[in-house]
Amino acid sequence: MSAVLVVEGLTVDYVTGAEPVRACDDVSFELRRGEILGVAGESGSGKSTLITALTRLQRPPAVTTAGRIEFHGTDLVALGPDDLRKLRWTSLAIVLQSAMDALNPVMRVGAQFVDVLRAHDKTLSRKDAWTRAAELLGMVGISADRVRSYPHELSGGMRQRASIALALACGPELVVMDEPTTAVDVVMQRQILAQVLRLRRELGFAVVFVTHDLSLLLELADRIAIMYGGRIVEIGTAESLYGKPRHPYTRGLRDSFPPLRSPLRKLNGIPGSPPDLRNPPPGCPFHPRCADRFDGCDEQRPELLTIEDHAVACRLYPSGEDQS
Ligand SMILES: Nc1ncnc2c1ncn2[C@@H]1O[C@H](COP(=O)(O)OP(=O)(O)OP(=O)(O)O)[C@@H](O)[C@H]1O
Ligand SMILES: [Mg+2]
Repeated sequence: MSAVLVVEGLTVDYVTGAEPVRACDDVSFELRRGEILGVAGESGSGKSTLITALTRLQRPPAVTTAGRIEFHGTDLVALGPDDLRKLRWTSLAIVLQSAMDALNPVMRVGAQFVDVLRAHDKTLSRKDAWTRAAELLGMVGISADRVRSYPHELSGGMRQRASIALALACGPELVVMDEPTTAVDVVMQRQILAQVLRLRRELGFAVVFVTHDLSLLLELADRIAIMYGGRIVEIGTAESLYGKPRHPYTRGLRDSFPPLRSPLRKLNGIPGSPPDLRNPPPGCPFHPRCADRFDGCDEQRPELLTIEDHAVACRLYPSGEDQS
């Protein structure tokens, strides 16, 4: 399968105080056509920084200081605002945590679909656009008569599904979702995940899906990337990463969230807290919290080393290979 997205060495700094804060540090990955990549990590690990840089939606003080984002062979980092605008919605769409950010509260839901559809297809009549809006809402299980509702007349889950349908309106090839189910209850969360999976099967778009809940990604993602301190510390297929996590942080994260389908068991959070990126620890950023650390972890920064379809940045695996 060919890659839709190739990210290489993406580095983002927040330029505020005397020293820039590096919240996305040399991040590289590929996304294949129709693939779902999950990105997980605790609060402050740089997930949203990565996503906003990736979609070129970042605002100062965030600055992309290095790296390439190749989307269909075009480097998004080098693209001007006009060309970016052309790509948005039609090729690359975004769903954010709060559907209220995506939906205009003073416009009927359907009218927002009509605007987006007609902005990208000048030949589409107003009447046909309303019909298409109703179809798109139907695709996420919202009945056609809701097309004339205002966002506040819909439930939180419906609004979130409507914002997903809106992202899909112009048939994008890549949909980037940042915590799209955080604001809804567990039942609605599962319905939304099931819908994303079904629509991906039908429409074939690729997804980057960000969440702090690793167990949720097990249900959804083909591959999972774990972020810590602005870096990808482990990346691999969902089965291998969840079933055989290598990085001690990934293991900690896995044991912090109950799998959706398994009986309740005692959860062990990870002791300590994520690094302050204004003053990151030397060596491996996880070493102050790591039960498996050994001599040199506080000095040497481990590289992300790949074995087959699984890569890990941890000195326990000097060649990326699991020795145990
Ligand atoms: N506006 C800002 N100015 C300065 N530093 C910032 C700013 N926003 C984020 N940061 C820095 O970037 C780090 C990563 O933030 P980011 O929002 O990307 O994390 P996240 O993984 O999305 O967290 P969450 O799970 O809470 O959404 C923060 O810990 C902080 O150090
Ligand atoms: Mg975030």
